[in-house]
Amino acid sequence: MSGLAFPPEFVWGVATSSFQVEGAKSNPGSTWSRWEDEGHIRGGARSGDACGWWQDPEIDLDRAAELGVTAIRVSLEWSRIEPRAGVVDLKVLERYRRLLVGCREREIEPVVCLHHFSEPTWFADRGGFAAKDAPLLFARHAERVAKAYGDVVDWWLTLNEPNIYAAGGWMFGQFPPGRTRDLRGAARTLGGMVRAHGAAYRALHGVQPHARVGWAQHLVTLEPASSSFRDRRAAATLDQVFNGAFLDSVLDGRVNRALAPWAGDVSGGVGAYDFLGFNTYGRMHIAFDPRRPGDLFTRRIVPEDAVAGDGDSAESHGEPYPQGIGPLTRRLAGRGVPIYVLENGVPDATDRLRPWVVATAAHEVHALIADGVDVRGYFHWSLVDNWEWERGWEQRFGLYALDVETGERTLRPSGELFRTLASRG
Ligand code: FCB
Repeated sequence: MSGLAFPPEFVWGVATSSFQVEGAKSNPGSTWSRWEDEGHIRGGARSGDACGWWQDPEIDLDRAAELGVTAIRVSLEWSRIEPRAGVVDLKVLERYRRLLVGCREREIEPVVCLHHFSEPTWFADRGGFAAKDAPLLFARHAERVAKAYGDVVDWWLTLNEPNIYAAGGWMFGQFPPGRTRDLRGAARTLGGMVRAHGAAYRALHGVQPHARVGWAQHLVTLEPASSSFRDRRAAATLDQVFNGAFLDSVLDGRVNRALAPWAGDVSGGVGAYDFLGFNTYGRMHIAFDPRRPGDLFTRRIVPEDAVAGDGDSAESHGEPYPQGIGPLTRRLAGRGVPIYVLENGVPDATDRLRPWVVATAAHEVHALIADGVDVRGYFHWSLVDNWEWERGWEQRFGLYALDVETGERTLRPSGELFRTLASRG
């Protein structure tokens, strides 16, 4: 590592999301609070106040500052800001202002995401993103937030991982609304998300002409399980449908064939980006499987001898694969805008793999820069162990370990490594 030097303006950041650090207890209006109440979380786990950010985010902002990061991804709970359609909670806006100002006071730039999986139940119950007027409602929210915080924030993400949101909620049943193999529902949702993204992009720019607006695209490294034509074809199809679904629509207005019959007109999202950002965790090998029409005739395989994160994370995140950062970044290059790695990490409670993930990611990014690729930042998921959606507290992604009972935080060795990178470049 000692041989690598990064440009001084390279952004070292950490990523978080509101629901995962605030929990459900103080936020009954979120779809994820309801999902939890309905008992969908593994082992019936409860998020409670999660990392306590609703009460006091400054504890962890101080820790982010100790790491030497210059940026932090946060998200704001739409369900708190607009608890009923059209009704804004001014106290909540004030509360979040303190979070954002708290970042600035520590010389950490807040990168604000408007929708990170969790959303108001009223929005979901009237059809979510598939509803005709969803883009309008989302744009209204974006405009309101930009007006409230335009003096502290100008770096925005509209949506986090539309492809994971749609797959989790309509294909695999792990996220609300819990549908399975509903390709039509997933496609309608994704089409609506492209339109909502475009509308929010324009709304943010309407308030803040110089805003930097994008979204967080999830990309998995998908490789054929063998060199057979059928496996190569299966991997390419899944890549197109999963990795490409939202991405290609925004980049080129192209909707892939599997989604086209239902996604609707996506022209409203084309070109709606000032930078490109992606989240990546793993690699999966893809085989053709004629018995799985509901999975587009594909089977996802993680070789038994592959590096493995904790528990059954091969299923959720694949084989940890920071080596994918180079090729995935190149896939987004050449569009004339900066690129950011917006999430990368590993579920690893004992830190046996995370130092390798951090170091490998740094090497990947450094090689890209040396090769002239315009990659300007790397955000590690996550600052501190937090509530991991349908898996509750099972997966630990933090540079800081969290003792959920006592609230105590401990810097992991990987956190020390990250601090060296972030503070000394
Ligand atoms: C990503 C999500 C994030 C977190 C990490 C582990 O898909 O964006 O909220 O759950 O995975």
